[in-house]
Amino acid sequence: MSPVVRLAREGDREQLAGLRAALWPESSTEDHVKELLGILERKTFGTMPLIELVAEERSGRLIGFLEVGLRSHADGCEPAHAVGYVEGWYVVESHRKQGIGRKLLAAAEDWARTQGCVEMASDALVGNDVSQRAHEALGYAEVDRCVRYRKTL
Ligand SMILES: CC(C)(COP(=O)(O)OP(=O)(O)OC[C@H]1O[C@@H](n2cnc3c(N)ncnc32)[C@H](O)[C@@H]1OP(=O)(O)O)[C@@H](O)C(=O)NCCC(=O)NCCS
Repeated sequence: MSPVVRLAREGDREQLAGLRAALWPESSTEDHVKELLGILERKTFGTMPLIELVAEERSGRLIGFLEVGLRSHADGCEPAHAVGYVEGWYVVESHRKQGIGRKLLAAAEDWARTQGCVEMASDALVGNDVSQRAHEALGYAEVDRCVRYRKTL
């Protein structure tokens, strides 16, 4: 049976933190558990709406997630409207190329529509070819490529 895609709830926190740590290993699973506390409860990050969608097997195991929020603007998008933004997108390796990523993204786009969005945006690292192929396959057009910098003040 194909996995169900649904909004994450409080009881998903530990499993979801593990998936987030697989995508964003710069933070520990414990840090992800802490960060998820507020997100799952308030469905916001800072002042902006942000939700976690999960793909769940019949057994209750979570095998993917997509974090989607609103941004006031995104490169290449019409500045008059807030934009639905894919902040994180991950499917466990053993379950890739089975349409789960597609299902998660479709649910994220549906959510963004309910928020009044008329555009979605996302990003991928320059070296992440799989992510770029997947975005393109699902209707996302490349806007530009950039290098980010920082400096401590
Ligand atoms: C990107 C990711 C979420 C896609 O999940 P997935 O469940 O494998 O995606 P799907 O099976 O729904 O595939 C959707 C489309 O992407 C394309 N695609 C997926 N994997 C691909 C690959 N390895 N090579 C080329 N195209 C691929 C396919 O064209 C597919 O369309 P199709 O079904 O019409 O063939 C998954 O590869 C992943 O978790 N990667 C590691 C984390 C990551 O890079 N996340 C993105 C960060 S920006």
